Amino acid sequence: MSDALLEISDLRTSFKSESGYMNAVAGVSLSLRAGETVGLVGESGCGKSVTSLSIMQLLPKTAKVEGSIRFQGKDLLAMKEPDVRKFRGNEISMIFQEPMTALNPVLRIGDQIAEPLRMHKKLSKRELHDRVIELLKQVGIPRPEQIVKEYPHQLSGGMRQRVMIAMAMACEPKLLIADEPTTALDVTVQAQILDLLRELQARNNMALLLITHDLGVVAEMCERVIVMYAGKVVEEGDVRSVFRNPQHPYTSGLLNSIPKLIGERERLQPIRGNVPSLANMPPGCRFAPRCPHAKDICHTNHPSLLDVEAGHKVSCWMAEEVAAR
Ligand SMILES: Nc1ncnc2c1ncn2[C@@H]1O[C@H](COP(=O)(O)OP(=O)(O)OP(=O)(O)O)[C@@H](O)[C@H]1O
Ligand SMILES: [Mg+2]
Repeated sequence: MSDALLEISDLRTSFKSESGYMNAVAGVSLSLRAGETVGLVGESGCGKSVTSLSIMQLLPKTAKVEGSIRFQGKDLLAMKEPDVRKFRGNEISMIFQEPMTALNPVLRIGDQIAEPLRMHKKLSKRELHDRVIELLKQVGIPRPEQIVKEYPHQLSGGMRQRVMIAMAMACEPKLLIADEPTTALDVTVQAQILDLLRELQARNNMALLLITHDLGVVAEMCERVIVMYAGKVVEEGDVRSVFRNPQHPYTSGLLNSIPKLIGERERLQPIRGNVPSLANMPPGCRFAPRCPHAKDICHTNHPSLLDVEAGHKVSCWMAEEVAAR
């Protein structure tokens, strides 16, 4: 696919441990077009953050990252660190899962936001100051002239998240990876931040990879959704298609475990069991031990990701059977 802005193929990220390398991301392929919003969902520990940190190349040295990550056709994994730095925070930026750890507690807000600009754009002191104020206004921070002089701990959680967004938007990236951007915030602030992301995205025709465990957020924000389970993509497709007609038992499980606000109140059906540990992955389909439909083959062989309908793929033996008929 040549019109892809980001194209990841067969990404494998593993961490060194006493018993050898453990695969946190085990062969993930995905792509994003310019301006597109794609949701990345899956249970805690399934490898969402590791996938995004692999793209940004911000993992510790103990991590081994293999496969290819092409951004505008160039393989980021094949680049040397100084070249990667030209992309990171400039063409591609990220909003991190924990705003408090991502912001530097001893740097004033103004200096934090100016950092990516200093690194990537040649601006005079005056231009830099004006741009920082403009960014703070764009993300809806009141009294920007005052706020630039303050430190992260002086701001509320919602305001800190806005500062993170301002930093990420500073160089007008073509791709923004937002890792649980609203999880730590209360619902009203959550809605404001999501609106803000949508607005900034439309203004800059920016692609957005939105990582969340909240399927409601995906339904509202995303065109496509990618469902991960234990380091692999199990299903992906247009949000409507996946939500109306989920093909993977794990996706169905996720959809059945969220409360409905409208209609009959049904019993919630949590997915039984737990995500397998990295050290102890099942040899076949990784969901098989928890799957209500698992057959013998599911426990021994991994199913490939196949098209079920236009723009909708699933990795499940049941779907392979249907396709073979
Ligand atoms: N630096 C690291 N060293 C060793 N293992 C790691 C490291 N970072 C992540 N892992 C492991 O990789 C797996 C995937 O973690 P990841 O943080 O990507 O999950 P996640 O899908 O983002 O979960 P959550 O929804 O809780 O944020 C986990 O088993 C985690 O323990
Ligand atoms: Mg995470």
